[in-house]
Amino acid sequence: MKQRHTVLIVDDEKSTRDGLARALRRHYDVHVAEDGPRALEWLSQHPADVVLSDLRMPGMDGLTLIQRILARTPQPTCILLTAYGSIETAVEAIKRGAADFLTKPVNLDELDLRLKNALRARSMEQENRHLREQLDTRFGLDNIVGQSSALREVLETVRQVAPSRANVLIQGETGTGKELIARAIHQLSPRAKAPLVTVHCAALPSNLLESELFGHEKGAFTGATEQRVGRFELADGGSLFLDEIGEIDPALQVKLLRVLEERNFERVGGRETLDVDVRLIAATNKDLKALSDEGRFREDLYYRLNVVTVTLPPLRERREDIPLLLQHFLQAFNQENGKAIEGFTSDCMNALVNYDWPGNIRELRNAIERMVVLARQERLTVRDVPPHMRAADDEPKALPVLPDMSLEEVEKNMIIKALEAHQGNRTKAAEQLGISRRTLHRKLNEYGFRDGSSD
Ligand SMILES: Nc1ncnc2c1ncn2[C@@H]1O[C@H](COP(=O)(O)OP(=O)(O)OP(=O)(O)O)[C@@H](O)[C@H]1O
Ligand SMILES: [Mg+2]
Repeated sequence: MKQRHTVLIVDDEKSTRDGLARALRRHYDVHVAEDGPRALEWLSQHPADVVLSDLRMPGMDGLTLIQRILARTPQPTCILLTAYGSIETAVEAIKRGAADFLTKPVNLDELDLRLKNALRARSMEQENRHLREQLDTRFGLDNIVGQSSALREVLETVRQVAPSRANVLIQGETGTGKELIARAIHQLSPRAKAPLVTVHCAALPSNLLESELFGHEKGAFTGATEQRVGRFELADGGSLFLDEIGEIDPALQVKLLRVLEERNFERVGGRETLDVDVRLIAATNKDLKALSDEGRFREDLYYRLNVVTVTLPPLRERREDIPLLLQHFLQAFNQENGKAIEGFTSDCMNALVNYDWPGNIRELRNAIERMVVLARQERLTVRDVPPHMRAADDEPKALPVLPDMSLEEVEKNMIIKALEAHQGNRTKAAEQLGISRRTLHRKLNEYGFRDGSSD
């Protein structure tokens, strides 16, 4: 059965209220109110799809009422009823957010039509909002955890710039989520179906980076035995993510500038000029402006890249995000490791919120993974926090070797201590314990620790 919509009629004249109510009752759930305050009161208790309000009413006029209604959620669709001669007011009502207006005396067929239109527009708008939320969920914004105003601002910028082809420069310390944001921008853009190609500019020496970016022809240099298609070509129609852009040398900066200005280039050793349609997203943990002021990064390139800047603040400047991130990663690693750790003791939470996280979210993620893998109780305690992350007064007593402990328990504690001392590095832990890596591995399995952490 089709769901009936709810209509609230607000009019100070009883005859109009009753007339409209009678006409609409067949197809709608109709309620009436004789003035603005009563309408608002009814709406505070009930959801309505449409409010049909008279303009001139004693006490609160229709314009004010509509404005008050639209300031709350959920918002009903508002239609204003006006007498002849007050069209200007009606226009004003539309400006303030009313969906439509009707002149009195109301023609009932007209009313029926306008209501249907308004409801159709309303459902389309709801559907759009729903789709947008779904897109957020599917594409990146949903897995970006955090509620701080700094992060919310970043996400708002991402939503705004994603649909354009403006180049974006993402700045932030290591581990703050630059790559995550780059992906989100691509996924929320019309290029989402085309590839997002990533190049880590610091990973390659300059000459190799050049042929990585632009490709090369066979025989272009020693070792160029085949033609190679560069990343710019691979990203055609999509986005190119240049990570650690601050690291590219001056000669390559010039070439990059040219592609950005002219949207074409040649392969290394090639004559043919290739056109590309690429949206560039660059990231850096350096202060690119400072580099350019020092003359180490071309200013013109800086301005080309930096059409829009997204700056990710370090985690220690948005500590309110830490508990959310801790919960998020706890859940993720519980699942991955088949564990059911419930949460954090308050001391533990305090220690983690107060730590400075120089490696930002990546460091936090890794820390939680280790803590979850190593944890022996249903809650994580200060003792589970790696020692260098605790303030001096959070220092727990050393893992005890007590007379009533079994040999197995002592061994287990020693293994945990050794792993902690070496940030989970098994080779080093095994060395310290004087056992082979293989033996350590077997013992970890015996004690039910997850396989596959770092070596
Ligand atoms: N807000 C966030 N919510 C959830 N996970 C996040 C968030 N920010 C970052 N991460 C995660 O933290 C890790 C590091 O993020 P990312 O690789 O994007 O950082 P980065 O700024 O590119 O670091 P680097 O400068 O070292 O390359 C990734 O695993 C990423 O998924
Ligand atoms: Mg990165």
